[in-house]
Amino acid sequence: MLEFNKAEIDAKVRAGIPFEHRWHNRFHLEMPFGLINDPNGLTCYQGEYHIFFQWNPFGCEHKNKSWGHTKTRDFVNYSTPELAMWPTDEHDKDGCYSGCGFVEDEKLRVFYTCNAKDEAGVRTAAQRLGTLEGGVIRKDEIAVPGNPEGYTAHFRDPYVFYRHGQKYFVLGSQTKEERGCALIYREDPTGWTFLGELKTKMTELPEKFGYMWECPGLLKFGSHDVLLFCPQGLEAKDFKYQNLYQSGYFAGHISLDSMEMYHGRFQELDKGFDFYAPQVFQHEGRQILLGWMGMPDRDMDYPTKEKGWMYSLTMPRVLTLRQGHIFSQPARELRALRVEETAVDIDAEAVSSMAQPLSEGAEILLDIHLGEASNVDIALNYGMEKLLFHYDRLTQIMTIDRDGMKLGGRGQRRFKLYVDKVLYLQLFVDKTAIEAFFQHGEEAATLFVFPQKHILPELSLSADKPLETVSGRIWELEAIRFHVHQ
Ligand code: FRU
Repeated sequence: MLEFNKAEIDAKVRAGIPFEHRWHNRFHLEMPFGLINDPNGLTCYQGEYHIFFQWNPFGCEHKNKSWGHTKTRDFVNYSTPELAMWPTDEHDKDGCYSGCGFVEDEKLRVFYTCNAKDEAGVRTAAQRLGTLEGGVIRKDEIAVPGNPEGYTAHFRDPYVFYRHGQKYFVLGSQTKEERGCALIYREDPTGWTFLGELKTKMTELPEKFGYMWECPGLLKFGSHDVLLFCPQGLEAKDFKYQNLYQSGYFAGHISLDSMEMYHGRFQELDKGFDFYAPQVFQHEGRQILLGWMGMPDRDMDYPTKEKGWMYSLTMPRVLTLRQGHIFSQPARELRALRVEETAVDIDAEAVSSMAQPLSEGAEILLDIHLGEASNVDIALNYGMEKLLFHYDRLTQIMTIDRDGMKLGGRGQRRFKLYVDKVLYLQLFVDKTAIEAFFQHGEEAATLFVFPQKHILPELSLSADKPLETVSGRIWELEAIRFHVHQ
């Protein structure tokens, strides 16, 4: 087991902020060194949002998984991230894997997966509780020592939820036949009772729906239940499952008596290239999601690896469920980052010559009245490189095309987007992290671009036939701020 020296690691983080490299983002959470992945332990506690995340502080490989930690009241000012939990004993010697946070007896508690492998490489996954104490998670009892009969040791990522005053957790797993599934436990006076596998429409399918489900979450939107999860092993088809692994949900109703969920189709939460393992804070009626900007087993798509750090977290997004579909919109707090404002109000003739230079961080809000146009291109041009959003009104397909970039992951992502007369686009352009929201959050897409040259992007628009008008706003965005707590 590597020795984690918290004081040294925290000091190295402080010394690494503000970030220096031009690929480091300004309003996306990231670390000056090491590899981060899943957001963990998202909890609103004593007026602050606590954000933990998977972190290897020793390098850009998927190992030495510990939990980093930052907190914020407004998603603009953050405490300088610190190490909060790391492998210490035989249970979690091979990683403090993902988990959740919740408040109990006025304490911030966490539930995480202890990952351990023996000499033969055989994995054990135990689910353990912890309590935040002065910036460090004290490890408490092991709640569940290992996987139940019929399931493999791919048994991880507990997420606590409550129903009728009782506490439960759902976690991601795999049956012995290598079918992905979600398992549920209930807290009883004597401990945690295994209730079994949540039956869904996928349980009885002849073909499995993925070989493993990671990072589940169970949310309540009014009277509806939503099961978030990340299935691995789905085959890409038409406009679906184009990333290596997916993040999506079922919306419907759960009966914990029959352990069944009645639900609609599986829908993906994000149509971009770099989005995985999202988790949700539930606070005062808001469901605020943070995702990992990255993808397991695709490290080769991310050239920051050579610079000593990898990956970011998404901006906070507020989720709403409308007619069985989740809309995601950037949290309103992010408006505080807006500084310079430029109005966009262009008529048909001027559109094709539009080349709007952007600042180091930008938010773009555009209402594109399509007029006669059936094909529209919205591009971010980085000198000779470009990221393209192409909308085809006849087929109702939005394509995000990264083939015009030289470094990092390339390719295209295509998805159905129903636009009547106006294409509504909200685009956040950070140094390398980009988040796009279409039709007021009906779809979202998260991705990275790594411009080869140190060049600020220009926004351009063109269409095959005259557009009616394009109106909106462009803001320069400030960076989020890190503050050292005494
Ligand atoms: C998802 C995941 C989780 C696991 C963690 C380990 O990205 O594989 O299932 O707990 O990452 O870092």
